[in-house]
Amino acid sequence: MLSVENVTKTFGQNNAVDSATFTVERPAMIGIIGRSGAGKSTFLRMMNRLTDATSGVLKFDGRDILQLKGAAKRAWQSDCAMIFQQFNLVPRMDVVSNVLHGTLNKRSTVATMFNLFPQSDIHMAIEILDRLGIAEQAPKRAEALSGGQQQRVAIARALMQDPKIILADEPIASLDPMNAQVVMDALRRIHEEDGRMVIANLHTLDTARRYCDRVIGMRDGRIVFDGTPDQLTTGAARDIYGADASFSEAATSTSIDALEGVPA
Ligand SMILES: Nc1ncnc2c1ncn2[C@@H]1O[C@H](COP(=O)(O)OP(=O)(O)OP(=O)(O)O)[C@@H](O)[C@H]1O
Ligand SMILES: [Mg+2]
Repeated sequence: MLSVENVTKTFGQNNAVDSATFTVERPAMIGIIGRSGAGKSTFLRMMNRLTDATSGVLKFDGRDILQLKGAAKRAWQSDCAMIFQQFNLVPRMDVVSNVLHGTLNKRSTVATMFNLFPQSDIHMAIEILDRLGIAEQAPKRAEALSGGQQQRVAIARALMQDPKIILADEPIASLDPMNAQVVMDALRRIHEEDGRMVIANLHTLDTARRYCDRVIGMRDGRIVFDGTPDQLTTGAARDIYGADASFSEAATSTSIDALEGVPA
């Protein structure tokens, strides 16, 4: 389904992503972990063609993604929706309009200028918001919502594109533990119920272990771990984070587990 072969991104002398190679056979929920600067964001940005790779091949369902141009590239970008740490909503615009912006690439300039949305899209937006438990927020300005609600609006906007893949770059890094859990639960449900692939950069081990089927660990641009949460032992984590024996998992932990008493 997805194959990544020696994908590399070089900035000057620095290999931000260095020969990344892995394959995914079926839609999975994948967590990418690693310390700051490991190359996690750069990898996601290459994947949805926000930035060009320096070399390598990335294929999805037979499509040669890194070679796509023009309309084919835009179609791919619509197939793999991106979610960001800072939500990237239009703060003063109402929630439902923010969600409808997920369909922008399908609409004419005139329709966009006058904010004209087909009735069927409006229904779909409300349905998606309802699915995420925030339909009653639809008329409010985005800026009036809590962080967790705003991130769910961003997920709703992504779902309007009906994407095959959701790429999430630190989707819960700005959220408190309760909201973080609500957002991760939403991503997991979307993966399980819709069969969409989710690839999320996560800065905490416990979240990756708890929500993902597979964890990829990056260090200095290289993939140094690729396995199941069970295989992600403290030793493996220490290697990914490049830490010595004093490495403590708690330092990479949100308090979600502590909150619920779930053993790590
Ligand atoms: N536009 C750029 N120009 C030059 N160097 C860059 C650029 N973007 C990223 N880098 C470098 O590439 C490396 C990987 O950065 P990246 O943002 O992918 O890391 P990350 O794993 O997402 O880190 P974080 O956890 O802090 O978000 C870093 O050394 C960074 O300084
Ligand atoms: Mg990053």
